[in-house]
Formats: sequence, C-alpha cells, structure tokens
Amino acid sequence: MLVNMNELLNEAKKGKFAIIQFNINNLEWTKYILEQCELEKKPVILGVSEGAITYMGGYHVVYFLVTSLIKDLGITIKVVLHLDHGKSILSCKKAIDAGFTSVMIDSSRESLEKNIEITKEVVAYAKTKNVSVEAEVGAIFENLNSSKGNMYAKVEDCITFVKQTHIDCLAPALGSVHGLYEGEPQLDFTRMRKISNMVEIPLVLHGGTGIPDDILQKSIQNGICKININTELQIAWAKAVRKFISENAGIYDPRKIIKSGETEIKKCIHNKLNILHDSLKV
Ligand code: 13P
Repeated sequence: MLVNMNELLNEAKKGKFAIIQFNINNLEWTKYILEQCELEKKPVILGVSEGAITYMGGYHVVYFLVTSLIKDLGITIKVVLHLDHGKSILSCKKAIDAGFTSVMIDSSRESLEKNIEITKEVVAYAKTKNVSVEAEVGAIFENLNSSKGNMYAKVEDCITFVKQTHIDCLAPALGSVHGLYEGEPQLDFTRMRKISNMVEIPLVLHGGTGIPDDILQKSIQNGICKININTELQIAWAKAVRKFISENAGIYDPRKIIKSGETEIKKCIHNKLNILHDSLKV
C-alpha cells in the first residue's frame, strides 16, 4: 500500500527508530527492494531522483511500475513513493500529479529566504493532495571533494525554515555527503540533537552509504528518523555483476546478467534493515 511519509516518520520519531529510503533505478531494483522488505515485514521509502525518473521514462512510468509491482507481487507492507532531491517546483508538482506520496524539494543552494519561498509553494500544493514534503537546509555535497564552504546547517536557519514552511521532515546538512567518504564521516551530533529538539519534526540523514552502523544508531538516538541509502546498493550490485560477467563470457541474456546482482542487493538491504529497525512496530 502506498502511504504518505508522515505515517511512517511520526511513528519512527515517537519510537526512536528510523525508516530507510532506498533509491531505485529500474524495475529489477524496485522488485528486489520490495521483495526483501516484504519478506522482513518492514515498511520502506522508495526514493527516486530526477535522473532515475528520466532514465526510467517519466513520473507516470515510475508510479505505475511501483504500484503494479505492489499489486502483482502481493506486497502488504507500507511503501512511500518519494521524489528525492526535486530541483524545482515543477518537478515536485509533476511527481505529485503522477501519484507520488511524498516529495523532497531541494533548493538548498539558494539563499535561506529563496529556499523558504520555493519550499512554501511546494508545501501549499502538496497539502491539497495529502503528499508529505521534505526539504534541505545547508548543503549536502556529492562527495568530500565537491564540498565548498560550510557542510553544517545553522540551528537558527533550521528553526526559521521549519516555522515558515510547515514542511513534514527536514534534511539539515550535518557533515554527511552523498557517495563515498574519505576517512570517517564527521557528523555533528550536538547540532543534530539541538536541531531535532528545536524543530520537533523528524530529521533525515542523507548520504547513508559508508556511515558505520554505530554512527547510524547514534544518529537515530539524536533525532534522525529517515536514512537515505543509494550508493551502497549500487556498489554491491556492480561488484556481483562484474564478477558474473567475467566468469560467464558466453552469457548474453540480460535477465541473467542483471539478476546476478540480486543476492548482493538483498543482503545489503537485509543488513541495513536489521541495524535500523530494531524497535520497529509499524
Ligand atoms: P548515498 O548515495 O551516499 O547512500 O546517499 C543517498 C542519498 O542521500 C539520496 O538522497
């Protein structure tokens, strides 16, 4: 069943656990994630970037892909279909109109005032369709080398932003990056806890790949209710497929090649779900 993200995150905040957003790229990934989460009876957020939406054919394709898999595979867990890093009001509206149950508007590269203005417009539209909205304050970079300036959101900015926009959950920059880390990630837990206490809504941690399990647990204790994971599944899948191709030069059936990454993706999902959902009761 597709649900609004609030249904899961408010429960997670109360129970001090986190829900994972796994990003999807194609039919197979979506199927593997749904099957594994169903097997473990854990709700899931399916995050889709604008790039992945274009790759798959469009917003409606993604909506019908996800809802059709839910139907045909007999999926009973709660599933959120979420636009990840929507770059414009238009892309958020397209996702909402196509049936997504949640969107992220990411205008974090703008000034705080402009970020508020853009986000408010998305929230106004989303509320009329019962769609939840996530937004970002501060800048979460693609990797450590691309980071320019401050990787940490200001507490006062977060308070102002949430008060004025009425978003449902907030992704503040807390020192995490998308993709791989060089060395240990430097998350600011004091800032995380302060923001969580002051804004009261659930917090989101982007860049979940490569963050050690104990740091993920500590983040949950400090207000994180949603953790985004993308690159980790990609690496697990690519490694297995590379090995399969090198050992099976005579196989050209794409179903066999793509499927050779299934076990590793599912293992990765299993490990993450079990770290993060210990106290899950939804
Ligand atoms: P990673 O690719 O680092 O796991 O980050 C995913 C993410 O934050 C998607 O928004």
